[in-house]
Amino acid sequence: MRTKLVGGNWKMNTNLGSARELARAAARGVTDSPATVILFPPFPYLLAVGGVLQDSGPGVRLGAQDAYPGADGAFTGEVSLSMLADCAVSVVLVGHSERRHLIQETDALIRAKAHAVLDSGMTCMLCIGETLEQRERGETDAINRRQLESALTGISPDCASRLVVAYEPVWAIGTGRTATPEDAQTAHLGVRGVVASILGSNAAESLSILYGGSVKASNAEALAIMPDIDGFLVGGASLVSAEFLQIVEAVS
Ligand code: 13P
Repeated sequence: MRTKLVGGNWKMNTNLGSARELARAAARGVTDSPATVILFPPFPYLLAVGGVLQDSGPGVRLGAQDAYPGADGAFTGEVSLSMLADCAVSVVLVGHSERRHLIQETDALIRAKAHAVLDSGMTCMLCIGETLEQRERGETDAINRRQLESALTGISPDCASRLVVAYEPVWAIGTGRTATPEDAQTAHLGVRGVVASILGSNAAESLSILYGGSVKASNAEALAIMPDIDGFLVGGASLVSAEFLQIVEAVS
């Protein structure tokens, strides 16, 4: 049985007060949910959100939106995995499309981050997905394969239980356009096949693969019933507690 997960990626949004408020609402709202919720606040609010979640039980975990793949040292502006562990972070996003395309992170850097997160004992939520041009050229599966192989080749199969993949087609992020449930299912099935070829079929079968890109309360249920969609990574709608909790409910 695969773990159902719903991530709330707040991106560069919230302030100290609204971050605490969103975390309180999530902690209160998911007490009986079979899905695990992971909140990804901006770095400055990790401790405050972690403080709110401290008494909320294992149903809500704390995540970080990024990490530097090296030991503490002279890397101005970066945040290390040991600092994140100190803040009770247990999940790290790697390869989000905004970091691939806006911040110009390379495949090599994303690979180093994925390996470092898994080596640290934390969960790596690896984000992949094609741009609109790549989709129109029929390259969705090839791009997903390239991004997965590039990031995951060489990881130990022992780490597979701490890997989550989020398929987030770039054209669907923040645009209001969502992949149809059938298209998302086809892409997820392809992802599972690639992961099987890298990490083996047992790891692929138990891997949680999340869909992300304009997920809302109104489209979550139709996506969530697809057999290879194991949850969501939510951006904009995670900033509105009532809507986010409805999405969690749809996954449950
Ligand atoms: P939206 O839900 O705002 O489209 O963002 C998706 C996303 O990028 C989550 O990581």
